[in-house]
Amino acid sequence: MTVPYRLLWFMVLLGAIGAGANAIMFMTVDGFGGKPFLERFLASPILGWAHVGGGALAIVIGPFQLLPGFRRRSPMLHRWLGRLYLVAVFASALSGLYFAASSVAGWVSAWGFALAAIVWMGSGIMAWHAALRGDVASHRRWMLRNYAVTFAAATLRFWLPLGLLAGIDFETTFRIVSWLSWALNLAAVERWLRRYQRPTEPQWHEVRPRRHHGGLPRGP
Ligand code: HEM
Repeated sequence: MTVPYRLLWFMVLLGAIGAGANAIMFMTVDGFGGKPFLERFLASPILGWAHVGGGALAIVIGPFQLLPGFRRRSPMLHRWLGRLYLVAVFASALSGLYFAASSVAGWVSAWGFALAAIVWMGSGIMAWHAALRGDVASHRRWMLRNYAVTFAAATLRFWLPLGLLAGIDFETTFRIVSWLSWALNLAAVERWLRRYQRPTEPQWHEVRPRRHHGGLPRGP
């Protein structure tokens, strides 16, 4: 890993831990979260916990899955954490869709979150399919896109206070960040991929012959 990549990875890890801890405290610490959010989440606690718990789990697992050394040294752990990550993403995205329908800032943020949830699940399915095919390069690209959307939970908490500090009212800021928080991450990852992607990355079955048909092939 190069020094800038290491630094970026460390910043992502810090953002992930911050957003994960914020999410758990939102559900468990009295007076920590905004009332209009908490009331809805506690009125449907299973969905509330699916969203917050699933989101927190996914955002914290993600950075470790992106470490090339970790993937190489522990391919089995990478596979199991990947499955757990995708289950967490689906639990959080489906419950996110439910909460999006009654978003505190109306239809603009409702659509922002709903589209995010759809892109979140769609890119997860693409990444999973690529893993089943043993297509490492495509799996890596789709997972990076997927984590860009997961990381919206961290970037949202960066843009929100910035909007408020700029003097924009809460509802307008919230509408803007419901789109910006994930779309900008996705655009940044897409740019990164176009600049640095390696289309010639070996496929898993080229690195190590398949021992079985179907299911996830062994990693490099
Ligand atoms: C891009 C994927 C995500 C979508 C579509 C989504 C959707 C939503 C929606 C619709 C709400 C309610 C907002 C409203 O009432 O207007 C919400 C709130 C919340 N979400 Fe997510 N969410 C996502 C990712 C995450 C992740 C990864 C976490 C955890 C790290 C998380 C934690 C929370 C928390 C704690 C709240 C309560 C309000 C707050 O503190 O901001 N979400 N989310």
